[in-house]
Order: sequence, then structure tokens, then C-alpha cells
Amino acid sequence: KSIKVFSKDKKEPLGDLYGLFFEDLNHAADGGLYAELVQNRSFEFDPIDRSDYHALTAWEKVERGEAEVTISVEDSFPLHENNPNYLTLKTKKVGDGAGILNTGFNSGIPLKKDEFYHFSFFARVDQAEKKTLTISLESKEGVLHASEELSLHSSEWKKYSLTLQCKSDDQSARLILTTNQTGTIYMDMVSLFPAKTFMDRENGLRSDIAQILADLKPKFMRFPGGCLVHDGSLDERARDSMYRWKNTIGDTEKRPSRRNNWKYNQTLGLGYYEYFLFCEDIGAKPIPVLPAGYDPHHHRIVPLENLQPWIDDALDLIEFANGNVSTTWGKIRSELGHPEPFGLEYLGIGNEEVGEPFFERYEYFHRAIKEKHPDIKLINSSGPFAAGGEYDRGWDSAKKNQSDLVDEHYYQSPEWFLAHYHRYDDFKRDEPKVFLGEYASWGNTYYNAIAEAAFMTGLEKNAHAVGLACYAPMLCNVDYINWEPNLIYFNNHQVFGTANYYVQKLFMHHQGDYTLKTESTGLSASEPPSIPTIGGQIKLIGEQSKAEYYKITLTNLETGEVKECPNALVENGIELLLGELHSKHYRLSFKARKLEGTRGFKVMFGEKDNQKLFWEIGGWQNQDSVISSM
Ligand code: AHR
Repeated sequence: KSIKVFSKDKKEPLGDLYGLFFEDLNHAADGGLYAELVQNRSFEFDPIDRSDYHALTAWEKVERGEAEVTISVEDSFPLHENNPNYLTLKTKKVGDGAGILNTGFNSGIPLKKDEFYHFSFFARVDQAEKKTLTISLESKEGVLHASEELSLHSSEWKKYSLTLQCKSDDQSARLILTTNQTGTIYMDMVSLFPAKTFMDRENGLRSDIAQILADLKPKFMRFPGGCLVHDGSLDERARDSMYRWKNTIGDTEKRPSRRNNWKYNQTLGLGYYEYFLFCEDIGAKPIPVLPAGYDPHHHRIVPLENLQPWIDDALDLIEFANGNVSTTWGKIRSELGHPEPFGLEYLGIGNEEVGEPFFERYEYFHRAIKEKHPDIKLINSSGPFAAGGEYDRGWDSAKKNQSDLVDEHYYQSPEWFLAHYHRYDDFKRDEPKVFLGEYASWGNTYYNAIAEAAFMTGLEKNAHAVGLACYAPMLCNVDYINWEPNLIYFNNHQVFGTANYYVQKLFMHHQGDYTLKTESTGLSASEPPSIPTIGGQIKLIGEQSKAEYYKITLTNLETGEVKECPNALVENGIELLLGELHSKHYRLSFKARKLEGTRGFKVMFGEKDNQKLFWEIGGWQNQDSVISSM
């Protein structure tokens, strides 16, 4: 009802406080920021990536009129060992057009009138044969937008390319390759890029998505992900290998595509070199995150005696980013087209890998990196927010090793954000700083955005302790959702920012000079008027699911009373009633585990018939999760 300002403090400089977090989930890269328009361009999709995938996903035969073709995927004479599959097109009858087509992402390939598109592919034909191939862009209904011919003559793999100009707008076109000769054509890496990419980069990024990110003016970008970084096998040559940065640079046809833990195929066409370039293009400091040789989801651990190659990956990455051209990795960067260093300042080791194997390995990374590169700011990991336990171990490890920053993550209700405005008030200036590497309230409403904004004023107020912060996740293709909410949504031709996006933008663009100390009556930061009164019961509800909860504690924050609830198995809508709630402020903390083969579950919090979604774990999460709330 009234707010009184009674003092103002000069604000601590915010440094690099606000930035971005990029993870390839929700098709953020392939079918998203990465401008490639062909889906499954190298015929590497595999049921290992996703059960309904196969090597011909997004490809169809074209048999017009009397045409007759067979298409198969073979691997006996590959373009590169990292890219084993290729397509064999055998034409028996040419009819009115024999070949293949690609359906792109979303509803199809988006095309704009008068714009240019670069087509390229690798092909070979049987010895002494010559073949003509027509490359066309057509609507779903067969209306021709553009067409050019290529003459194929090499019996060795050879790259061919041409440019097509499109006659009309179409958001769901097809790329079609047809021949009017019988015989066999082998092909791989069939690619189509818009000629206009962000900053006109080759193998570049989709302009509209890159631009909406650049418009934020972020100070940094954390990449290539969260769980994506540590999920996978320890064998770097395996299909389901952990994310290893060296697999992601150089010629795209030599990059092995991989099973992304978000259950799709990741081409790695958008790799470390492209991430560094993008950061440079938008004026953001790069913050790569490397795995520490420990996959907490599947409990795969690199034995300590084999850890050196993983540490070398970190040292080589620093050299790749910062070394001059006389160094091994600086030279590689230069050959890729960037002789100047990228100026790496920060490096993250691990993402949410709380657990002893991680902290044990972190020390080896820390020592080796600081010895060679004392100026690199190292980021330790404290995992998802919880009342204590593993979370504190992240901080203990950071303090012991003198990490520069600690990566904290939390996804919580808007009320939680409002109530935790003071979270960093007591954090000390001379201890590791906070890198709030992932945070979001559960939703994209104005209320969510405003709760986040209120919380962010708490980050700014404590800039002595909070070094970096980025909302998560950032990008989501509306037809391939793994996780919600997100900052920015897009389809194959449109992109828009959420209310939360505009809050981030506001804070990134405008940073005040003073913090005003205020007193208010009628409302306070932790008691917004729109929060429904908490009363009645608190429930954990399994929704078509089976989930296990344990270590459930409910703390009444007004009286300090702690209630320990029985461990429980929740199945198919059965409610677990934790008891009557009479105060306004509680902290609920527990661990939950979604059991095999189930879709997800929700936790409801509130009045019996007026329940409020408090936390939701969707089908994506099959590991332990720790949450808490007031
Ligand atoms: O942002 C989505 C996921 O949330 C990240 O991959 C992970 O770090 C966290 O659990």
C-alpha cells in the first residue's frame, strides 16, 4: 500500500552478471538455432537416439508416374569413419521423376520468396557412369519453387554444391532429388542452408533466433548444456558417448553425430567452434562446461588412473580458445578460420554431478588447470537446489579448492523466488562467487516473470557474491518439447520471447547505480497479494505414474516445527497426504525418483479442491531430483 525509501547504497558493479544458457534440448540446435534445413542429413538417425528413429527418418522415396526406385542405407564404403551411413538410390524405371525427398523439421522446409538457398551433398556413382540429378524445392502438393541440375561423375566421394533461388513463400516445402536415368547413386551429407545466416557465417545460425538472443545483449553464454554434458558413455567413439568437445569441430562430415540424452539425434553441426564464434558475434563471453568423467545418471565413472585424457581435454580447450597460432590447438583454431584467440575467461567443470566421484575428480581438474592457467576462472558444481546434503558438498568442495565460482541451479514456484529474495544477503565477498547457471520459476505468465524480476533485484543487490546468472532453458521448438517453461519459443519460421524473456532483456539492458532500501506496508516481497492462502493439505500426486519419495520433511518456518513424513510409493493418481497445514510458510524437501516406464508426476500443494501446481517432473527425468520450497 505504501513504500518508503529510506536510504540508498551505491551499487556494486555488476560485472558479467547476466547471460545466456544454451543447451540442445527441445531441438534448440538441430531444427533450431543451427540453420541446417535438412533433417537427418547424414542418414545417421538410429533407434539408440530415439526408439522410433531409423536411418531414413525424414526421408521418403519419390516415384512419379511409372518410376520405380529402391532406397537403402549402407555402410560398406563410408564418406568418413565417423559418418558410417550413406544412402544408395537405385533407379529401375525413371517414370516422371525418381528419387528421394526430405521433409525437414516441423511442418517442412521454410522458404522465402526471392531468397537464395545453398544446397550441397557428397555423392559418388559407379565407375564410368555419369548421372544427372535435379535438385528441387517443392511445396507439399508438388508446386515447384526452385530447381537446378547437377552432373555427377566421380566414383570417389565428392562434394557438389549449388544455389537455388526460391520463387514463392512456403513454410512446409520439401527438398527433392530426382534423376531421369536408371542406375545407382550413392549420397551422404545432403544439406540445405539459407544463404542468409546470422552474420553470414558458413555452417551458420538461423538469423531470427540468433538475433532475438543478440537483442538481449548478454554478457556471457554457458554451453553446450546441463545434463547433456555429463550423460553418456565414457567411450568417446561410442554412439552414446558423453559430449566431448573435440568431436564437434572441423569438417561437419567428419563429426560423429550422437545420441542426445534428450532423446533425439544431435548432429554436432553446431559445435564448439560455432559456439565460440556466436559468442564473439553477440559480444558474450564464452563459458564452456566440460564433463568430469562421471555420469551420475548411469553411475559411469572414469577410474582416476584414466582421468588424464579428460583433464587434457580441458587444457587443450583453453589452448584452442586462447593459444596463439604456434600452439597445437591455437593452430587448429586458426586453420578453422580464426587466428585471433577467443579470449576464454571462464570454464565450468561438471553440471549437477553432486556425489563423491565428482568432487574427487574435480580436484584433479582444478589443480592441473590452475597450475597451467591460473587466470582461468573455474566453476565448481553444487547441483540442483535442496535444503542441504549434496548441495552443501558442492560449496564445501568449492571452498576447499578455492574454485572461483559455484554453479547453483533451481527450478521453483514463483512464490519460492519471492520468498528467496534474501538468499544471498549473507554470502561473503571473499568466498567463491555464485554462478546461478540455471534458474526459472515454473511458468511463462506475467506473474512468473515478475517473481523472477523481483528475485533478480536480490541478485543485483548482492553482486559482491553473485557473479553470473542465466535463465534456463533458453530455446524450445514448439513441436519438439522436452522441458517447459522456456525463455524463447519458435517453430520453423517464427520465434518469440516470453514474458520472462522481456524481464531478462530489461535487466540486461538497464542496470541501476543505486540500491534503494525500502520499507513497505500492505505487501512485502515474500507475500505477494496473489498467492492463494496455503492451508488444508499438501499432497504428492502420481499422475499416470509410479514414483518413489523419500526423506520427506516438512518444516513450518513460522514455528520451526519439523515433521518427517513416511517414505512413499505413489502410483497412478494415489495421493500421499502429508498432513494438515496451518501456517503460511513451510519448507518441503524430499527426494523423488520416477520409476522405470512411467511418464512423470506432479506435486500439488494447497487447498484440497484448489490445488496448485508446485513442481512437476516430466517424462524427461529419470534420475533423482531434489526440490524444496517454503
Ligand atoms: O535445463 C534443463 C536441465 O535442468 C539441465 O539439463 C540440467 O542441468 C537441469 O537438471
